[in-house]
Amino acid sequence: MEKWRAADRLLKFSSSCKSKQGKYFYSVATTVHRNPLFSSISPDDISYFKTILGERGVVQDALALDAANTDWMGKYRGSSKLLLQPKNTEEVSQILKYCNSRCLAVVPQGGNTGLVGGSVPVFDEVIINVGLMRNILSFDKVIVSGVLVCEAGCILENLISFLDDEGFIMPLDLGAKGSCQIGGNVSTNAGGLRLLRYGSLHGSVLGLEAVLANGTVLDMLGTLRKDNTGYDLKHLFIGSEGSLGIVTKVSILTPPKLSSVNIAFLACEDYTSCQKLLLEAKKKLGGILSAFEFLDSDAMSLVLKHLDGVRNPLPPSIHNFYILIETTGSNETFDKENLEAFLLHSVESGLVANGVLAQDINQASSFWHIREGLPEALMKAGAVYKYDLSLPLEKMYDLVEEMRVQIGPAAKVVAYGHLGDGNLHLNISAPAYDDNILAKIEPFVYEWTSKNRGSISAEHGLGLMKAAKIHYSKSPETVRLMIDFDYCVFELLPDTSCLDDNHSIICLCLSA
Ligand code: MLT
Ligand code: ZN
Repeated sequence: MEKWRAADRLLKFSSSCKSKQGKYFYSVATTVHRNPLFSSISPDDISYFKTILGERGVVQDALALDAANTDWMGKYRGSSKLLLQPKNTEEVSQILKYCNSRCLAVVPQGGNTGLVGGSVPVFDEVIINVGLMRNILSFDKVIVSGVLVCEAGCILENLISFLDDEGFIMPLDLGAKGSCQIGGNVSTNAGGLRLLRYGSLHGSVLGLEAVLANGTVLDMLGTLRKDNTGYDLKHLFIGSEGSLGIVTKVSILTPPKLSSVNIAFLACEDYTSCQKLLLEAKKKLGGILSAFEFLDSDAMSLVLKHLDGVRNPLPPSIHNFYILIETTGSNETFDKENLEAFLLHSVESGLVANGVLAQDINQASSFWHIREGLPEALMKAGAVYKYDLSLPLEKMYDLVEEMRVQIGPAAKVVAYGHLGDGNLHLNISAPAYDDNILAKIEPFVYEWTSKNRGSISAEHGLGLMKAAKIHYSKSPETVRLMIDFDYCVFELLPDTSCLDDNHSIICLCLSA
């Protein structure tokens, strides 16, 4: 399955962003060659897949294939001739078993909203899209456990609405919620806007079901909070980007919905104030703090320019930094007073230059729209080089400033992210993709991150973009263990003849 492609993905790297096949990956050092050990689709394969999935589950239509071959940013493009749409776990298992026996490379796909080239084929892999597997299987609210069990293809926003009606919330929220799917979210360990409050998916996913490359179904779909019977293998699938198997079902712990939500949009004049404000927010708002997001002045200008209907919440000027704070609690009066007092104190102490508290739900969504609309605004602005980094908070904005010096006037450096989680989204926005700009960004950005003991992927995964860069964040021994582990899973398979010595755990992801 996925790892077959990974095997050849790591074969050769060069310092050019154009591969010999003429593929342009907008990231330095990613030249990949198709592994000749992989088979190509034959008419017999198509007939076989039709016996499993019926005519409708076997898609060869050019338009549909074009969409499935291309990622959301239009940066990564495969040339798959076949898209399979299984309706249940058994069908996924049959597909993988067959592909394994035929040495057909596959790529799992969800909502195809990933940002690192992990959700689309590199060459002609069979695309297995789990989007038809979208049933909610159970929701246990009777004993107030709040455990939701659903299939991998459920769209995140649909789960959010379902839970809202039941009086619960998803512990995960992303700008891409309208398209991304829970299986992809789990496979990429998506972080999002409320990780600060509800933690990562390693905490809220209680269990999952996954299908291995040989078709074996692993039932780890527990719903228990505690289970210490041996290795907790589900964690290996959370964030493994499809390298170990396709996640088909998920059980997830969801918190009860709280009635009082307040949002403030604030301006700070320097980055030190943003950091101090975060510390203060943690101290003063404590348990009710549910989001602490930031954007800089270039990010704000970009949104105002490219997103329809967005207005500057703190006119007339543009400030250096903006912070969006959300609180979620159960006491309307107390929570609001608490946030107001915090804001007043922050203004008086000089940390905040200006600020506004959302007066109604429309104003609250307009604040969120500014932050969530940034990826779209960047796409509208032209070419964008995206870096999703975890960094020590105090160093985070130094990188942005150094990058501005490094790049010069050729491109805009736009910064935003999940400040509360130490997660910077560093974006370099240019009129068009340009090798000279790229040469100024990479490897500088990775070296800087590594030197400061950060991570080159905070929440987006490695994908094709960063598979070969893992060494910037993981020691050789750690990478070796990952590779050994990956082999270990694979050696359970009846036929590993498709693999070669470059076989590696590092591969593309099942997109959110
Ligand atoms: C976000 O936080 O908006 C997403 O991770 C997407 C992005 O990095 O642009
Ligand atoms: Zn993010």
